[in-house]
Amino acid sequence: MAISSEPSDLDAGLFQPADEFFGAHRGLALTYDDVTLATLYSDILPRDTQLDADLGAGLRLNIPIISADMDTVTEARMAIAMALNGGLGLIHYNMPERQQLSEVSRVKNHVHGLIQEPIKVSPDQQIGEVLEMIEKRKFAFSTFPVVEASGKLVGLLPGHVVKQRYAKRSVGEAMTPREQVQTIGHKELGTDPITRADRFFTDHPGIHKLLVVDEEDRLRGLFTLSDVERIIQERNAQFKPARDAHFRLLCGAAVSATRNAFGEVERERVLGHVGGLIERGLDVVAVSTAHGHSRGVGEAVRLIRATFPNLPIIAGNISTAAGVEYLADCGADVVKVGQGPGSICTTRNVAGVGIPQLTALYVAARAAGRRGVRIIADGGITKSGDLVKALTLADAAICGGLLAGCSEAPGQTMEINGKHYKQYRGMGSEAAMKAGSAARYGQTADPNRKLAPEGVDALKEVCGSVDSVLAQLIGGIQSGLGYLGASNLAQLRQKARFIRVGPAGQREAGPHDVVQIKAAD
Ligand code: XMP
Repeated sequence: MAISSEPSDLDAGLFQPADEFFGAHRGLALTYDDVTLATLYSDILPRDTQLDADLGAGLRLNIPIISADMDTVTEARMAIAMALNGGLGLIHYNMPERQQLSEVSRVKNHVHGLIQEPIKVSPDQQIGEVLEMIEKRKFAFSTFPVVEASGKLVGLLPGHVVKQRYAKRSVGEAMTPREQVQTIGHKELGTDPITRADRFFTDHPGIHKLLVVDEEDRLRGLFTLSDVERIIQERNAQFKPARDAHFRLLCGAAVSATRNAFGEVERERVLGHVGGLIERGLDVVAVSTAHGHSRGVGEAVRLIRATFPNLPIIAGNISTAAGVEYLADCGADVVKVGQGPGSICTTRNVAGVGIPQLTALYVAARAAGRRGVRIIADGGITKSGDLVKALTLADAAICGGLLAGCSEAPGQTMEINGKHYKQYRGMGSEAAMKAGSAARYGQTADPNRKLAPEGVDALKEVCGSVDSVLAQLIGGIQSGLGYLGASNLAQLRQKARFIRVGPAGQREAGPHDVVQIKAAD
């Protein structure tokens, strides 16, 4: 008898494609844990699946994950780490506009592997002081560029002279002088600085540090052999960094649709700021508010679209088909879906509005299909399985809480009872609104009016680097694709079959009836 890999009518009667499933659940709003996906015959290995996400308007990511535009999630460090992993960071706007411009510049000027602000020493310091600095700041290296007050490079202090026996000597006496130090002009680095640095190290055996200088011989950065070797190895990684046409990392930034006293969008301010962001190399702007299906957001999107026709625009948030259609008609390329699903959100409790996320995604996805725009699932993702479910309907997903405990998220680590945490707060929390995000929630920062918070101020346990968190999430998404026999995200959207899960099924999904040795991630 022939072996069948065809779908069975028995399955078809139970596990339904999105249109049938959500049609059959009219009147009931569902979210991630309410459903599960049925497995399908597969000849796809998870590691062979592709995760690139086409967000339209020329915006393409190599993984479908975006870090949230929140002041405890995305500034330049997070955006750099996200883009290096193939995703995207949206820099938040709870900061002075000038600072947001420089955060974007930091991302766009980031040269992977180039240490742009290396630790330097000055020629008049004593070696003893350098030793103290190494001890105090716990440096694992002892070779330093030597730079005058003007920023000019005057030599290199090699590690083998940074010893107690030379403590009384000056750096100037002990250093290798400028004329013997190998350097490269920053203009010579070209569009692929790592390959250039790699060639340099091959051509100069025994040299482990390459200093980069400008036309005036001022130090502009430093490559180390070990970093370059690691990056060359990473190039074989499956998911490449997300870059623009000039090989720079992709970067997004959020703006708010602030209005003047007459309720009109502040035209000059919005356009001036977005223009500044574009000058810095911004790849996509997100008009980001709690209620995207509103006059102010629509006007801001129309204004930006009319003035910058080639700039990809994300707008939101909405949770209805009409919201998608409105923002698409105003000129958005991508619409953010999510009202109240976020881990720090209280909008549904405070305002009594919002739609559980999977139902919101379904209705938004169908409206987006009609208008030819893309959607991003924003909020409520707590594990990789949620991402797989989100991606059955959305083109990409935004994570806040999952990334807020990473070392690249803004803010200090704090220790409480021996555990390490970072702050994670809703942009509609009282503290964040006082720091500037009130407009996002349609509120005023006027000290005489009481703000009604729609988010909480919370903590996330520290969870390591973005690389390690994303590796787990990507592994989970690839696994999900493997179970469904989908080799890419388009096939996932087309193949997904849903079924409701009851409370017992939800309990069954996690570890149960065991004593766990280590909590599941
Ligand atoms: P997660 O679940 O990833 O959610 O932590 C992040 C998303 O939550 C939204 N957000 C808020 N929603 N009140 C809300 O109702 C808030 O204070 C708030 N702050 C952020 C936002 O869409 C983010 O990407």
